[in-house]
Amino acid sequence: MTVQLGTIAPDFTQDSTEGKISFHEWLGSSWGILFSHPKDFTPVCTTELGAAAKLKGEFDKRNVKAIALSVDDVESHKKWLGDIEETQGTKINFPILADADRKVSTLYGMIHPQANDTLTVRSVFVIDPNKKVRASFTYPASTGRNFEEILRLVDSLQLTDSHSVATPANWKDGQDVVIVPSLQDPEVLKQKFPKGFLAVKPYLRLTPQPNR
Ligand code: BEZ
Repeated sequence: MTVQLGTIAPDFTQDSTEGKISFHEWLGSSWGILFSHPKDFTPVCTTELGAAAKLKGEFDKRNVKAIALSVDDVESHKKWLGDIEETQGTKINFPILADADRKVSTLYGMIHPQANDTLTVRSVFVIDPNKKVRASFTYPASTGRNFEEILRLVDSLQLTDSHSVATPANWKDGQDVVIVPSLQDPEVLKQKFPKGFLAVKPYLRLTPQPNR
């Protein structure tokens, strides 16, 4: 199954390190980051879970709940948590779904058989408070993800949801953004962007980040 942007994130009930989770209910009115790991007791996954846990304060600021998945069972996950805590210097402060039956990984298309027919790839799904999938990306088992990039992605989604802007290449929170091309009315432009804008080209208009 392909989970496409703009569709409702598939709901499921599955066991986790924090007990049984009914996904939509667990998300409540938060944003969600669902990310998969190929397997327990693997080096890259160990560092990724530590990196995600250290960003809890940043996730909280953005009203984001993180949830990981690995295809092993809860008993295995719980043993692994001790290693993660010891080696990464942090407690894991979000649930890790157990997916020994591959229910969630199949639902979300996290198993790419040409890469590996039993283990999940490194999928990330960003889900908004309306349960819509707003972004997704996939890395191979050999490459750990950049969790700061996930925060940057959430920042862009939250900003562009509430202002008529888009974020350019390599944008970081606080930097200039671009005005969406559909906005042309000079009065509306003046009202929405009181700090003004620089039209480098008619379609490339830079403006200071409006919520700053
Ligand atoms: C890892 O997390 O380190 C890993 C998992 C599966 C294959 C290769 C690396």
